[in-house]
Amino acid sequence: MAVVLILAACGTGGPVSGAPADKEHGRKLFQNVCAGCHTLAAAGARGKVGPNLDDSFAQARSEGFKESAILDIVHDQIKFPGQYPVQQNNPDFLTANMPANLVKGQDAIDVAAFVAANAGLKPFAATIVVTGTNGKQIFVAECGGCHTLAAAGTTGTRGPKLDALKPPFPVVKNQVIHGGAVMPAFKGVLKDAQINAVAKYVAEHAGQK
Ligand code: HEC
Ligand code: HEC
Repeated sequence: MAVVLILAACGTGGPVSGAPADKEHGRKLFQNVCAGCHTLAAAGARGKVGPNLDDSFAQARSEGFKESAILDIVHDQIKFPGQYPVQQNNPDFLTANMPANLVKGQDAIDVAAFVAANAGLKPFAATIVVTGTNGKQIFVAECGGCHTLAAAGTTGTRGPKLDALKPPFPVVKNQVIHGGAVMPAFKGVLKDAQINAVAKYVAEHAGQK
């Protein structure tokens, strides 16, 4: 992704660093709400829709940002994400924007504290990129952060439970290509063969376990 993102605490949300925070609760929230779009090693998250947060904050740490400053940046980002041009088929543009206020109040502080305590500690950790067409691997890496599917062992809660929905192949394929109101579009993010593979995997395994 060639988009240049600027880390700046613009102060719009007001500092929350110093407030009590439950980082373990923050980790669980991150896995359910943010992992579908972001890579963060400490959460086992491998989403690729938004920036890799280990890379973003390794850079911030190397520039001397303290954990408290990172906490405020993440908290501001949750309240006021940037809205950038979205172009599904152009790799130089984002394929989705980050929705505002995915978590609120104390939950937002807990997530921000978890990210601040962990992101970028292992600088530039290699992103796990699935290059093959193993539907299960693609599902776990790209979809499991948002969707529960027993066969894949994923427990995301942002999107519908696929075991209950049991969507047929054409429905999954269409959804993966175009995305939804919240779900990002994967056209251009995954190869066509990978979209077919993950759609086939979901259609064949949802509700089977
Ligand atoms: C639907 C996908 C999506 C979800 C879900 C999502 N983000 Fe994002 N995030 C993005 C995108 C796209 C960007 C880059 C554009 C922007 O800054 O708004 C981004 C940017 C960021 C940044 C700034 C990183 C940088 O390098 O500038 C942080 C921090 C962040 N997100 C944290 C979170 C947290 C914490 C959550 C969960 C509460 C979350 N995101 C959920 C898509 C998402
Ligand atoms: C950032 C979270 C997120 C990610 C990542 C995500 N989804 Fe979704 N998904 C959703 C949400 C939310 C919905 C409900 C529709 C909407 O608002 O986007 C949804 C809906 C669906 C549906 C239901 C479509 C219908 O017509 O009922 C299917 C099937 C689906 N997703 C499959 C996938 C697959 C396969 C992947 C991985 C390639 C994936 N999703 C990745 C959040 C996500």
